[in-house]
Amino acid sequence: MHIEIKTLDKSERTAPPSDGFGFCETFTDHMFEQHYSQGNGWHSATIQPYHNISLDPATAVLHYAQTIFEGTKAYKRPDGKINLFRPWENMRRFNESAQRMAMPVVDEEDHLQAIVQLIEIDRNWVPEPPDSLYIRPVMIATEVALGVRASKNYLHYVILGPAGTYFKEGFNPIPVYICEDYRRAVQGGTGAAKTGGNYAASLLVGQEAASRGYSQVLWLDAVEGRFVEEVGAMNICFVYEGRRIVTPQLSGSILPGITRKSVIHLGRDLGYEVSEERVDVHEMLAGVKSGKITEVFGCGTAAVIAPVGKFGYGDEEIVINNYEVGPVSQRLYEELTAIQFGRTEDRFGWTYQIDGG
Ligand code: PLP
Ligand code: COI
Repeated sequence: MHIEIKTLDKSERTAPPSDGFGFCETFTDHMFEQHYSQGNGWHSATIQPYHNISLDPATAVLHYAQTIFEGTKAYKRPDGKINLFRPWENMRRFNESAQRMAMPVVDEEDHLQAIVQLIEIDRNWVPEPPDSLYIRPVMIATEVALGVRASKNYLHYVILGPAGTYFKEGFNPIPVYICEDYRRAVQGGTGAAKTGGNYAASLLVGQEAASRGYSQVLWLDAVEGRFVEEVGAMNICFVYEGRRIVTPQLSGSILPGITRKSVIHLGRDLGYEVSEERVDVHEMLAGVKSGKITEVFGCGTAAVIAPVGKFGYGDEEIVINNYEVGPVSQRLYEELTAIQFGRTEDRFGWTYQIDGG
């Protein structure tokens, strides 16, 4: 893929915020974009200054939500180089989401190289650890038409923003609300794709949870309202007796998280027993109450490893591990971030290194 590059002069560039930037509240100076039109395929790839997108009010994505996205991060290594973490998995999942949403796939290697070139241009925005630079690839349907069918035209773009901790709690336990009445995704639906509608469907309950003092919502399966699926922005794991990690099996309605996949692999490598199972919410809560479940944590790119301090379910509040960070969550957080930031040997070949500087 040929990318036409138009960058800002040094004098026009913005100084990256030095700290206190929250999670992606500002974006870097440049963005990648390319366009698709039926018959012509992908074309007009550019990296250019970050800019607004102008859309006709009848643009398909604004009406029928034909849109997908990804989320991955760039990490500053101790030697000043930059690591991407398993970016190939994000490139593949982007295309899987595209297929589910009847959108065209992009060349995975070209997509990765576009991201690498964009980061090289805005590399001074990669913050010092423990912060990182969040990478957000997006594709939207751009055909101007109100008929309900797959669009003929698309825009694919990538933006970057410095990311501190996703939760205001930082690496501290968060309260999670278990949703009884609403469902986020169904088997055969779009839950396994990273598409905007899944997140839109979660917002009402997110508001309700926040008004009760909870940071996130845990979703149950849509058929019986009984099996644990995932949390709004992360997958979930339960630790039994400090040594066995259980995460809900992929059901078709859960996002197949890359951090989840890494926790399964890393957990086994560290000597834990790890399994993917159906998790009955009542049995799980009974396990927390009896002390059999010693820790609960979420995992995701933005969330990293996020210990859960309590569940709210109906009128009940169920506290986990005295609302403290448990040793398994702590260890996984340390081991995972050590690989991501290049502080330890990359023994699984998970990182992609961007040299230069
Ligand atoms: N589940 C949902 C709904 C998410 O939005 C995310 C975040 O990407 C995850 C799980 C975790 O996925 P990953 O580890 O690939 O970031
Ligand atoms: C991610 O972790 O990359 C996510 O997409 C979660 C959230 C910011 C939507």
